Amino acid sequence: MEILPVSEGKKAYLDLLLQADEQESMIDRYLDRGEMFLLLDCDEAIGVCVVTDEGNGIFELKNIAIRQDCRRKGYGTMLVNFVCRMYQARGDTLLVGTGDSVSTISFYERCGFVYSHRVTDFFVLNYDHPIWEDGKQLRDMVYLKKCLK
Ligand SMILES: CC(C)(COP(=O)(O)OP(=O)(O)OC[C@H]1O[C@@H](n2cnc3c(N)ncnc32)[C@H](O)[C@@H]1OP(=O)(O)O)[C@@H](O)C(=O)NCCC(=O)NCCS
Repeated sequence: MEILPVSEGKKAYLDLLLQADEQESMIDRYLDRGEMFLLLDCDEAIGVCVVTDEGNGIFELKNIAIRQDCRRKGYGTMLVNFVCRMYQARGDTLLVGTGDSVSTISFYERCGFVYSHRVTDFFVLNYDHPIWEDGKQLRDMVYLKKCLK
């Protein structure tokens, strides 16, 4: 198992990125300026994440996805822990924005994130179609934060 940065050809992993953010035009808003990392198992990509520098010591986890057949095995937590170690020297806070869905919020809480704030109607206003998760339409973007120090 290894985690490698990807600086070119990021769109080759679009299938994985779309599992966390299902509209390509929304991924395009952060993919170029973000740093992308791949989780590889025997040279096969089983996970991806993208982190952006938001300034003032704040980094944001914009996308994280683990291939469907590899979930609930600790790989998502492994990627989050890697990102925290990676950005510890460069920043104070790691932010993540997510839909108001119990499963993803509980994942981030297990990783040590706590509630920060919410952006009302983000999904309704920014996506060209309704986004559903766990049988519920997503409306607000819920931000969680983790102290990197
Ligand atoms: C969210 C995601 C990255 C988590 O990765 P993962 O490898 O499955 O996570 P881990 O195995 O490290 O899970 C750690 C804990 O998080 C919680 N968790 C993860 N997925 C969960 C789910 N679907 N439902 C409930 N709890 C969940 C559990 O507490 C889990 O521990 P457990 O398996 O011992 O109960 C992965 O499910 C995924 O790729 N989802 C689709 C993309 C996505 O929604 N990304 C986030 C967008 S903001």
